[in-house]
Amino acid sequence: MHIRVTPLAALAVTASVVRAAGQLGFAVGNVNPNGSCKKRSDFEADFKAITDNTHSTLVRTYSSSDSFGNLCNTPSEILPAAQNAGVKVLLGMWPDGIDVYEKEKAPIVQANVEQYGDTLFGITVGSEGLYRGTYSEGELVSWIDDMKKTFPNTKIGTADSWSSWNNGSMDAVIRGPIDLALANGFPYWQYQDISNATKTYFEAMAQALAHIQEVSGSLDRIHFMNGETGWPGDGGTDAGAALAGTDNAKIYWDSAVCALLDWNVDVFWFEAFDEPNKQDAIGDNSQRATEKFWGSFTSDRVPKFDMRCG
Ligand SMILES: *[C@@H]1O[C@H](CO)[C@@H](O)[C@H](O)[C@H]1NC(C)=O
Ligand SMILES: *[C@@H]1O[C@H](CO)[C@@H](O)[C@H](O)[C@H]1NC(C)=O
Ligand SMILES: *[C@@H]1O[C@H](CO)[C@@H](O)[C@H](O)[C@H]1NC(C)=O
Repeated sequence: MHIRVTPLAALAVTASVVRAAGQLGFAVGNVNPNGSCKKRSDFEADFKAITDNTHSTLVRTYSSSDSFGNLCNTPSEILPAAQNAGVKVLLGMWPDGIDVYEKEKAPIVQANVEQYGDTLFGITVGSEGLYRGTYSEGELVSWIDDMKKTFPNTKIGTADSWSSWNNGSMDAVIRGPIDLALANGFPYWQYQDISNATKTYFEAMAQALAHIQEVSGSLDRIHFMNGETGWPGDGGTDAGAALAGTDNAKIYWDSAVCALLDWNVDVFWFEAFDEPNKQDAIGDNSQRATEKFWGSFTSDRVPKFDMRCG
């Protein structure tokens, strides 16, 4: 079967099938501001802040083990906390290399994650690894296969930039056994002025979704999600015409995030909490940029703005 859909028609089809809004989720780190691994009580505090201040009951993580070389055992800490809080977890693996893949898989096996039932939303193998060039598509396909065999009752997916999904470099992944496709989209990193950010975001998401539907030959075999979007708040670095600031983050939240949820697409906001311990990154523009202020909450879990969609 070969389905041709124009990008915006694809979104409209998805939106008309089910009328409920998309699910709002938050990206959460697995270390505390002082660099220690988050324990169950730390995740409980995270979930309380999120569920008290938003309508979200879904989070995603990035690594099951690593925190500056320490072994965090994140699955064993986060899943019991989530179960108590009524939150679902999309558990992340950060498999930058085969040794790291095994190291990331071990704590997931050890936690016997399928015992948590619906609390485990799924598992993502890798985040932007093709974009960053830290693993190959072949490696990713083999790891997804391996996770499907190890956890046959769990949804397995992967996350990458919307352009990686859209430009053919992930077609073998799309044809493979994945259940979840997380496409990340940041108009901020496309150096867009806030006034053009929502349009840029919708076009990126629509293109990634349309390509996935076309290559998979199905409108819904793969559950499409926006794996990350966000806008840095006060203290953040500007990127071209994209100006950091909490006022702009709030504008972006209302016009982009709430609108895509209205179109019945699931959205993960990057990220829930500021990470004052995070190292600066070198952006696509070769400039040093701080990554400490992307939270819609401070690192003390205080909301920076109203996160309810009207
Ligand atoms: C780091 O922060 C966590 C969470 O606030 C706390 O439980 C832990 O004791 C702190 N560790 C150190 C070494 O200060
Ligand atoms: C596809 O997009 C990704 C992410 O921007 C990029 O790294 C990669 O080089 C692109 N591949 C092709 C074949 O254009
Ligand atoms: C606004 O966004 C659209 C979609 O990404 C893009 O084609 C256009 O060039 C942008 N306009 C400006 C002024 O950057």
